[in-house]
Amino acid sequence: MNEEIIILDFGGQYSQLIARRIRECSVYCEVHPYTLSAAEIKAKNPKGIIFTGGPNSVYGADSPQCDMAVYELGIPILGICYGAQLLAHQLGGRVETAPVSEYGKTEVEVFTDSVLFRKITGEKNLPARSGAVKTICWMSHTDYISQVPDGFTVTACTPVCPAAAMEHPEKRFYAVQFHPEVVHSKEGMKMLRTFLEDVCRCSGSWRMDSFVETAVADIRKKVGSGKVLCALSGGVDSSVAAVLLSKAVGKQLTCVFVDHGLLRKDEGDEVEAVFGPKGPYARNFIRVNAQDRFYEKLAGIEEPEQKRKVIGEEFIRVFEEEAKKIGTVDFLVQGTIYPDVIESGLGKSAVIKSHHNVGGLPDFVDFKEIIEPLRMLFKDEVRKAGLELGIPEHLVFRQPFPGPGLGIRIIGEVTPEKVRIVQEADAIYRQEVKNFGLDQKLNQYFAALSNMRSVGVMGDFRTYDYAVILRAVMTTDFMTAEIAELPWELIGKVTSRIVNEVKGVSRVLYDCTQKPPATIEFE
Ligand code: XMP
Repeated sequence: MNEEIIILDFGGQYSQLIARRIRECSVYCEVHPYTLSAAEIKAKNPKGIIFTGGPNSVYGADSPQCDMAVYELGIPILGICYGAQLLAHQLGGRVETAPVSEYGKTEVEVFTDSVLFRKITGEKNLPARSGAVKTICWMSHTDYISQVPDGFTVTACTPVCPAAAMEHPEKRFYAVQFHPEVVHSKEGMKMLRTFLEDVCRCSGSWRMDSFVETAVADIRKKVGSGKVLCALSGGVDSSVAAVLLSKAVGKQLTCVFVDHGLLRKDEGDEVEAVFGPKGPYARNFIRVNAQDRFYEKLAGIEEPEQKRKVIGEEFIRVFEEEAKKIGTVDFLVQGTIYPDVIESGLGKSAVIKSHHNVGGLPDFVDFKEIIEPLRMLFKDEVRKAGLELGIPEHLVFRQPFPGPGLGIRIIGEVTPEKVRIVQEADAIYRQEVKNFGLDQKLNQYFAALSNMRSVGVMGDFRTYDYAVILRAVMTTDFMTAEIAELPWELIGKVTSRIVNEVKGVSRVLYDCTQKPPATIEFE
């Protein structure tokens, strides 16, 4: 990895977004806590440093501040929002509470003699020092820079901020009060690109193939002739991690896939087709068909948390039994991805995902070290790596599927019969969503089984069958979700197919509840 930007995180809500934007410019970057020392930064030899925003005031008693020696490294710095104020504060300028806060889309005048705004003013063919150009930027601040430090020039202003941006081109220090990384900053990407290309002199050579190549080489070096174990769920992250490992160490890798009988229709066979003996990766693949064990344990249990617990515990037990058969392994593979690492608190040890199908395993498997080959990638980058590795698209673009599987989409007691109903209904739903060309547009959609039976009529007979619930949501973070407004034609088609083709269903309902107050899953 020869070209890197270091992002120092001061607790801002957009820190991850800044990282996304930098990587969109094909430049590798890592987010680190603001406490990273100048020596540690120097050792990484980055092309540039970005200070993120944050909720504090620089003049507050416990305000987060970076190592002053960072300014002596000779490395370009871009400060954003709090990061901008910090530059001003630490280098001798003044920051105070603004007379009014600015929040949202704001008209900013950027000056034509600025380096950072060169791509904006340049496009308009304005000569340098000819004045200012207006652009829309996203603002979110209560403090502002009231006096820039010596050597800096003001390069942007708003009606509230006399110094909405400042720069010191000789030292290569730049600061913006607004958020160029937020999509509402119309020309924000141009600013970031200018910083990366013109100031940091990045060539923009970060590509997925180079990631795959480097990761494979790193894994080989680390694993040597050791044995590696991977708990494969069939989800995107564990699949990509498994293929990467397989590519790196071949037969030294063993994948264990537990079919708990709560997967979607044909899913177990699909995973086996890819990772099993007849698949393209044909490694040591162990499929444990533990359906009956799980159904037995779940019999009579209705309470959601109890169901989750039983599924999680049984999973660990099954996995532990298989791991014992394999004996001591040197490494355990985890599909941890970057957002998990960041959310866990920067700089601390890696989190083990709280998925029931991975979480807890380290306590039960005899191994020396964890390997997390995807810990620096965002979800869409994991998908790109998956495609690069030749993993089939249906696995790479799989929608999220919870560890406890259909167990939390069947309200009340789980029985094999209910599993069959929800599997069949869900398969029809997914097929029709795809036929309508919506499968890549919806963020998550599935069928669930209510515990409600109601009276219906089929031919001349009275029925008393279950109601299937269809759910479809739009979301980016899965913390909140909007309801997808599916076409009636689609709902009608799915409904008629389900009641006609799935025995035991007499009614189909559409869930119109947002998250919050409802969660995406039912239990
Ligand atoms: P909720 O239901 O909390 O779901 O709104 C948010 C997202 O998380 C997924 N989910 C899980 N994923 N293990 C997982 O791996 C779980 O136990 C689990 N529960 C919910 C859910 O599918 C949605 O994408």
